[in-house]
Amino acid sequence: MMRLFDSHAHVYDKQFDSDRDSMLKNVFRTVDYVVCPSENVETSRQTVALLPCYAGLYGAVGIHPHETKNATDEALQEIANLAKSDDKVVAIGEIGLDYYYFYSPKEIQKIWFEKQIELAKELDLPIIIHDREAHGDTFSILKKQASTKLRGIMHCYGGSVEMAKELMKLGFYISFAGPVVFPKSSKLKEVAKAIPLDRLLIETDSPYLTPPPHRGERNNPSYVRFVAEEIARLKQISVETVVEQTRQNALHIYQIKK
Ligand code: NI
Repeated sequence: MMRLFDSHAHVYDKQFDSDRDSMLKNVFRTVDYVVCPSENVETSRQTVALLPCYAGLYGAVGIHPHETKNATDEALQEIANLAKSDDKVVAIGEIGLDYYYFYSPKEIQKIWFEKQIELAKELDLPIIIHDREAHGDTFSILKKQASTKLRGIMHCYGGSVEMAKELMKLGFYISFAGPVVFPKSSKLKEVAKAIPLDRLLIETDSPYLTPPPHRGERNNPSYVRFVAEEIARLKQISVETVVEQTRQNALHIYQIKK
């Protein structure tokens, strides 16, 4: 029996509105744990509301870089309150920088990334980072914010091996999602192969980024097994080893007590 841990799935997403409960019940037959990150105050509330319903469901609250143009100090306070409201909130996220879509201006994104890092340190929680085409600024902010309290996860990693090494030194785990399974992702596969298994996580980013053989369908946390299988193939180790080690890593960084 697989004991998978999907470290990142947006299960509150409206794409699950018609069948969320049956989808999750089905997921928890093969997946032990799912961490659901949020995008803004509203989805953070939705995440927290779902936590009591499923033993294996944990959450993160935060403001996604896309949403930072609407962020306020009141919103940040509400994120802090939600983080403190339930022990199953295990991280601040997803937060970071997105210079691909630029839905929010660069300077605004940076301000809220830092404010939320400071909140995470204050609450002694790890952070879940979204970094799209913003490697340089993401890294310099993390370096500036480095402390014994700073730690977290690089979600859906898309950077280089060199940067991953620096991030691991700062206390970060490197997480891979569906794109590592895509046949064309040769560079990403090389990066995944080079990351030590004890610093690696797997995720789906559901409902997005569906891996083969299900491309074109809605993603769900049970498909994290295809990410585990690809990592096993790349590293030439057993799937069971990948599943067990990534599970231990995720339990450790999210400080979930079994
Ligand atoms: Ni996400």
